[in-house]
Amino acid sequence: MDAQRFVLPMNGENISVVIGEDITGHISEEVGHYDSLVFMISRNVEEMFGSKIPPLENYGSSTIKITLNDGESLKTLRNYQRIIKVLVEKKVSRNSLLVYVGGGTVGDLAGFVAATYKRGLRMIAVPTTLLAQVDSSIGGKNGLDFSDVKNVIGTFYNPYLIIDDLQFLKSTPDLIREGMGEVIKYSIIAGGDMFRKVSECSLSNFHDHSADIVKMSIKIKADIVNRDYYDRNGVRSILNLGHTIAHGIEGASKGQISHGRAVATGLMVEAHIGEKYGNTRPEVIDEIMKLADNYGIERVRISDIGVNSILRYISNDKKMSEGYINMPVPADIGNIITMKVTERMISDGLNTFIREHERK
Ligand SMILES: NC(=O)c1ccc[n+]([C@@H]2O[C@H](COP(=O)([O-])OP(=O)(O)OC[C@H]3O[C@@H](n4cnc5c(N)ncnc54)[C@H](O)[C@@H]3O)[C@@H](O)[C@H]2O)c1
Repeated sequence: MDAQRFVLPMNGENISVVIGEDITGHISEEVGHYDSLVFMISRNVEEMFGSKIPPLENYGSSTIKITLNDGESLKTLRNYQRIIKVLVEKKVSRNSLLVYVGGGTVGDLAGFVAATYKRGLRMIAVPTTLLAQVDSSIGGKNGLDFSDVKNVIGTFYNPYLIIDDLQFLKSTPDLIREGMGEVIKYSIIAGGDMFRKVSECSLSNFHDHSADIVKMSIKIKADIVNRDYYDRNGVRSILNLGHTIAHGIEGASKGQISHGRAVATGLMVEAHIGEKYGNTRPEVIDEIMKLADNYGIERVRISDIGVNSILRYISNDKKMSEGYINMPVPADIGNIITMKVTERMISDGLNTFIREHERK
């Protein structure tokens, strides 16, 4: 399969995106002339795929390689400071390039370093998880966690090149399940060709369709982001579909439930809330469940986590300033509306979900 290359407009900039199999070797061709090359790579990815990743440390005497223990605990000010210290000690100039290879956590930290070191280094992103390819590498946001608050520090900053190498997605089906929560979300937001594509594929034939799925997802996210790049006019918040409940589930389960499962279940519960108040076509719930089943995403048992724990977490997380939050809800596949949702309505939705899917 030939690699596909296209230009993705993003907030007035043009990002080049290359999608293909076994294409990480192309990084060396893209590097160009810079004073230094800062190469940040996930330790896990290096262990798994080392032979496929070009030895950028041979780029020249001015290559600085930083190997990272990824996962959420990477995204701290302490790790940020450690990296900045290395760059200062090595006298990395502003005319330098940062290349990162890793999942969303490496991307969030690397993006913040690239955005802030000397007010901006050029960056190439090589996202290695499905979630990072379809979601976190697109849209300019980077982030660090602080004082138990996720992504509370961050900027908007884009790579000029994104290399989506599909070989990385072949390591484990967990990686696909994890990212498919977001892909299913895009298919419900966009409907049409995207919904058809996601419906006709499954976990077993995912790799035959991964190039299309990644490309279509990127375009859907970029289209929404470009209408509200700085997250100010409410358009970008459509991307929170499924996430109000998902964050409640993840918080209440103290991180025991994976993001992909939480988002897929969040999409179902939120559709129940919409349906209960006459806003959602009832069949949408079954359609979401079918997609989750096709990709082997196991539903979360809400009754095991507890409606009250989830509610408590959502109320602390979201400011229900006037007794409600604005929550995106699917009226239908391809038609997202925003509902004013109270705690009571969320509790009703969670209890309906338990009654209809956990007590049968
Ligand atoms: N900036 C944004 O817009 C945005 C959007 C969504 C999510 N995020 C952030 O992304 C992060 C989650 O990203 P993630 O799910 O990629 O997590 P991650 O970076 O922690 O990666 C998950 C695990 O997969 C491993 N891994 C990476 N590539 C692999 C591969 N090819 N095969 C097997 N294992 C591999 C990693 O070593 C890690 O253990 C969160 O911190 C979240 O806040 C950011």
